[in-house]
Amino acid sequence: MYANQANTPERAAITVPVLRQRKSAGDKIVSLTCYDASFAAHLESAGVDVVLVGDSLGMVVQGLSSTLPVTLDQMVYHCAAVARGLRSPLLIADMPFMSYRDVPTALATATRLLAEGGAAMVKLEGGEWVTGIVRALAERDVPVCAHIGLTPQSVHKLGGYRVQGKQPADAERLLAEAGALAEAGADLLVLECVPAELASKITNEIAIPTIGIGAGVGCDGQVLVLYDMLGITPGRRPRFSKDFLRGHDSIDAALAAYVNAVRRSEFPGVEHSF
Ligand code: KIV
Repeated sequence: MYANQANTPERAAITVPVLRQRKSAGDKIVSLTCYDASFAAHLESAGVDVVLVGDSLGMVVQGLSSTLPVTLDQMVYHCAAVARGLRSPLLIADMPFMSYRDVPTALATATRLLAEGGAAMVKLEGGEWVTGIVRALAERDVPVCAHIGLTPQSVHKLGGYRVQGKQPADAERLLAEAGALAEAGADLLVLECVPAELASKITNEIAIPTIGIGAGVGCDGQVLVLYDMLGITPGRRPRFSKDFLRGHDSIDAALAAYVNAVRRSEFPGVEHSF
């Protein structure tokens, strides 16, 4: 039975204001990606706060070498499936490559992800150039998660999946972008593969919560790709991830270990950070 069909008592829903309260209280936000209803039901039971239908599904579900070919129809399909397995976590859907290239396209994309997919927030990648898009969505009360640092949709421009913000000028640019995105109305900010010290600085300087992936323990919350943290993804695991199924005898035990480690600031350790 999926969570939204169950008779079990409901947890308090995680909403945009709740995420802000978590930041003010210093209570960590626990997030994972998810792509289907069955895993979603396990994430619900484990007490995950924020579930992200990431376009990483192109790589971990479809076997592609990048996220670029993922379509909006595919995102809507997976998001609707995940929504059926959830009740209380905040559900975020990635806006796929080029689906927010201008304001009208972004509004149409967000409409589908919220209305058909059941998402409560959309996520988009990019710095200065997306601030106008973030503002247009926020003005229409569409909650937005921005994503800076290593932005996988820019892989060809970046020249690979590399840590960003190591040089002082790049660090300054990321700090300025974080402030501009918050000012434009973003509700949440994913920081991917940036030095831990820079991520902490950004987290302390902006009013909205930050969620790190390869960004150190100083962020307001953490996200991992579900298949990485269960050791399912073939090949070498990224340094910033950890196989939580190793040493545990079930998926539920692995999820509980991740939730506890994030809440207690035990994950990520320095060995998972840059
Ligand atoms: O697509 C995705 O899974 C993501 C996370 C890595 C943050 O954007």
